[in-house]
Amino acid sequence: MVQQPHGPLRSFGRIKARPIKSRQASLFQTLLPTIALDPSQPIDLLALKPDAAEVWLEIGFGGGEHLAAQATARPDVLALGAEPFLNGVASALRHIEAASLSNVRLHTGDARDLLAALPEASLDRVFILFPDPWPKLRHHKRRLIQPDLVAEVVRVLKPQGRLRFATDWADYANWTLERLTGAPGLTWMAQRADDWRLPPADHAPTRYQAKKLGDIAPVYLEFERTPAA
Ligand SMILES: C[S@@+](CC[C@H](N)C(=O)[O-])C[C@H]1O[C@@H](n2cnc3c(N)ncnc32)[C@H](O)[C@@H]1O
Repeated sequence: MVQQPHGPLRSFGRIKARPIKSRQASLFQTLLPTIALDPSQPIDLLALKPDAAEVWLEIGFGGGEHLAAQATARPDVLALGAEPFLNGVASALRHIEAASLSNVRLHTGDARDLLAALPEASLDRVFILFPDPWPKLRHHKRRLIQPDLVAEVVRVLKPQGRLRFATDWADYANWTLERLTGAPGLTWMAQRADDWRLPPADHAPTRYQAKKLGDIAPVYLEFERTPAA
């Protein structure tokens, strides 16, 4: 049994917004049980895909467009995703089915539960893309980027594993830079402005990104897991 040590971070709002279409609803019965992760027990990544060249995790995959695009581009990678918003999960299941992906596994809940069930130094890459900005000062405590979550990401990343964070909100970019550049075990990889203001070559645009709701063009902050000073 994995202990879930975290408090009630309310980083996500709704679990379900619209009725789920019947085709998607049927995927909850057929496809999801075959690819669902159970974070109540320690997760054995080797058992999930013994020949995986790398293991990646997307936290808050929304509609799953990015997760499916990455899993399609890299069939040799085991791509994990965590998302509590059920309409998003329904959309992701549709993408997974349409592309016949066999290298994706989903946790339909809080990413922090999944992180707690993962072994130390087990992930090559973590993606946190366009997380809810929670722009009001009194809601900043709901932001996903908090010291406990950052420490967990550091714990599960392999040496030289990478974390990619993207946002189109200036205040959230600054908030994240402050917390990640100050985190033991993470080093910001940018050497020139284009490293954070241009999409990385392997970036796949996300649904939320396309809405352009933020106050700046997207920024992409790439960190490497390095030995703590
Ligand atoms: C603004 S949306 C962006 C979704 C997607 N990354 C995109 O760019 O289209 C943020 C997503 O993060 C999810 N989220 C928030 N807190 C989370 C948590 N603790 N664990 C996993 N997902 C979370 C929300 O449910 C929401 O779908």
